[in-house]
Amino acid sequence: MRFGHFDDEAREYVITTPRTPYPWINYLGTEEFFGLISHTGGGYSFYKDARMRRLTRYRYNNVPIDVGGRYYYVNDGGDVWTPTWSPVKADLDHFETRHGLSYTVSTGERNNVRVETTYFVPLATNAEVHRVRVTNTGDSPKSLQLFSFAEFNLWNAFDDQTNYQRTLSLAEAEVEGSAIYHTSEYRERRNHYAVYGVNAAIAGFDTDRDSFIGLHNGFDAPEAVVDGACRNSMVSGWGAIGAHQIDVELAPGEQRDLVFVLGYVENPQDEKWEAPGVVNKEPARELLARFSTGEQVEAALAEMREYWDGMLSAYTVSSGDEKVDRMVNIWNQYQCMVTFNLSRSASYFESGIGRGMGFRDSNQDLLGFVHLVPARARERILDIAATQFPDGSAYHQYQPLTKRGNHDVGTGFNDDPLWLIEGVAAYIKETGDEAILREDVPFDNDPDDSGTLFEHLRRSFHHALHNRGPHGLPLIGRADWNDCLNLNCFSETPGESFQTTENRTGGTAESVFIAGLFVHCAPDYVAMAELMGEQAEADGARAAAAEMSAVVLEHGWDGDWFLRAYDFFGEKVGSAERDEGQLFIEPQGYCVMAGIGLETGEARRALDSVAEILNSDHGIVVLQPAFTRYYLELGEISTYPPGYKENAGIFCHNNPWVAIAETRLGRADRAFEYWKKIAPSFREEISEVHRLEPYVYAQMIAGKDAPRHGEAKNSWLTGTAAWNFVAITQHILGIRPEFDGLRVDPCLPESMTNLTINRRCRGAEYQITVTRGGSPGVQVDGAALEGTLIPYATPGESVDVAVTI
Ligand code: GLC
Ligand code: GLC
Repeated sequence: MRFGHFDDEAREYVITTPRTPYPWINYLGTEEFFGLISHTGGGYSFYKDARMRRLTRYRYNNVPIDVGGRYYYVNDGGDVWTPTWSPVKADLDHFETRHGLSYTVSTGERNNVRVETTYFVPLATNAEVHRVRVTNTGDSPKSLQLFSFAEFNLWNAFDDQTNYQRTLSLAEAEVEGSAIYHTSEYRERRNHYAVYGVNAAIAGFDTDRDSFIGLHNGFDAPEAVVDGACRNSMVSGWGAIGAHQIDVELAPGEQRDLVFVLGYVENPQDEKWEAPGVVNKEPARELLARFSTGEQVEAALAEMREYWDGMLSAYTVSSGDEKVDRMVNIWNQYQCMVTFNLSRSASYFESGIGRGMGFRDSNQDLLGFVHLVPARARERILDIAATQFPDGSAYHQYQPLTKRGNHDVGTGFNDDPLWLIEGVAAYIKETGDEAILREDVPFDNDPDDSGTLFEHLRRSFHHALHNRGPHGLPLIGRADWNDCLNLNCFSETPGESFQTTENRTGGTAESVFIAGLFVHCAPDYVAMAELMGEQAEADGARAAAAEMSAVVLEHGWDGDWFLRAYDFFGEKVGSAERDEGQLFIEPQGYCVMAGIGLETGEARRALDSVAEILNSDHGIVVLQPAFTRYYLELGEISTYPPGYKENAGIFCHNNPWVAIAETRLGRADRAFEYWKKIAPSFREEISEVHRLEPYVYAQMIAGKDAPRHGEAKNSWLTGTAAWNFVAITQHILGIRPEFDGLRVDPCLPESMTNLTINRRCRGAEYQITVTRGGSPGVQVDGAALEGTLIPYATPGESVDVAVTI
């Protein structure tokens, strides 16, 4: 069952009913200011950091689930309704929400009044713009009131929940003309405030929540809206809001546009005040003036469209399958941008309080982002690397506002350092910017202790080598990619965090996954060492990788698949010898991607085991058999009921590893089958089962052991986005940048016959056609190419590539 449809021309998903199986959201903002918005107007916005600079309040885990947003209410002669359906939930004659690339347009119509609101964050602007277009679609005049509403958060979203008694005495505001200023805490250390203005004269306003809503009412029936009159309240403690009242008279057919701006403003410390106790509003006035006319708004929207046109034109495919094309050309790339911006911080599943930028996560996010805005990828790499410790280990997360490592979460996840090699390699392959390796980057943000970026990579690589266990495999530390496989944790205290609690010092628990990751990133590390002229280092690394591969085959092979790990006691994890958790997905994908066992048959055998045992109708599960009880020596993984999350859920992030691994064996149909199974556009038709947005990946789909098999959770912020983009574009469609040229090596399912791909790389355009049948080979500008690696063309050049498979 569907709840809307794709509009590929407009690059939008069109939701046609408010009653979707879950709030279906979108993101506004591309660089520093962001908003989350659901199809019924829920959500919130923040500047840079969803915890420390949250502008508007949002209550997670609410009843009903999606309550709180920037709302527009209509009072049409006593009939109160909201064009986004929520929160009033009056029946609408027409409802439609279009989620587009960094904007959302929501339209509701009732009794011949149509309200179409376009929400977006203009480029290079720290504000949301809401253009509210009110139309009288009937044949008699209308006289109505429009009310705006935004509830301000007291900035630190954590304090706002925990030190709540304090916040009840802090709220302050100012009003000037049609602009409401939220100034809580500005009197002391903050030099920033929020402004909510509109480009029209107002009939009234409110800044105090209880005056506007009424202490005993909800968002569905604010007293001021029901009465048709704002109270002109000035907040003094309690809850700060911004609400405007605008009286609207419309002749039949007449339309009126109102432009609301909800923004974040900073003043230099010594220019905070206009007069004693009066905030300096100059920058806010400038902001409001930038969006005070319809033309300005149109121009900003057009600019944003062009911005996306430009970015998305770096990779486009026409494959003959619209579901593939819309994932590759639009939605997967869009999600890669969002994950790059937000890491795992703020979504409808991540509260914006707990998680900053993950070291492991952000490096993987780069894989799907480097081609979009290389300069930002570069900056991100340098930020991440600066949180690395001198011994090569890494903070698991850093805070986006300060770019400092997060002490609360700490370190000790032994896969973390290696992901930096994967991220940097992807960036250089895309851009050719080798100079980044020579950038001077601090360790642990200490300006007195720094090294080149390459030095950071060296320490990453050697960290894995120096921290090995009895079998010569890398020690797992707190955990590797699978945060919930906690082999040194032994937690018996209810509620204690498996991630941060004291671990036993263990020199035994080893990870076959990290070994696979090490072997996978070794050739890239070797290539980068050679770029630095470090031949001895390159040779040593090559030898270390060969040795690690041999160790994996000797001590990391279980007979029919790769082992997962050795535990604290040296017992096998992910082995047929165990009762539960015999086979894990991660090492099968990563070891085969790394090429381990390709020649000797283990690779094929491992992937066949995945197909036989882990595959399901909705994707590949993490492990089988699922854990049915808590295993003290395995940790969090066995806390989840069978079929959810890391305990045998379909953790979508690692499914593309298996798809890529299948392409290494040349098994194109299987690779594509795996890719398709979890691709949102292919799951759109079963939206009632999947439940989450059919245009973006979710982190997890319930596995075959779960009663709700096929149901997704945790959409948007997941490494699934980047990895699936890599799988489809680089390995299945087969166009991938390497250090010395563009690899053209499609591994296409039988169902795909002819396709064209346009790829812009390092300033040159490659027009690639792939045809099935005839003698296999690649022609570049009419001349036969030996092999499949096209040397990079000069920027500005256009290259014709014809591939026959
Ligand atoms: C989450 C984390 C990621 C981890 C994965 C598996 O997606 O963000 O870092 O690798 O779970 O545990
Ligand atoms: C894994 C989970 C993630 C969770 C984290 C800490 O990364 O997938 O959702 O927050 O572990 O438990």
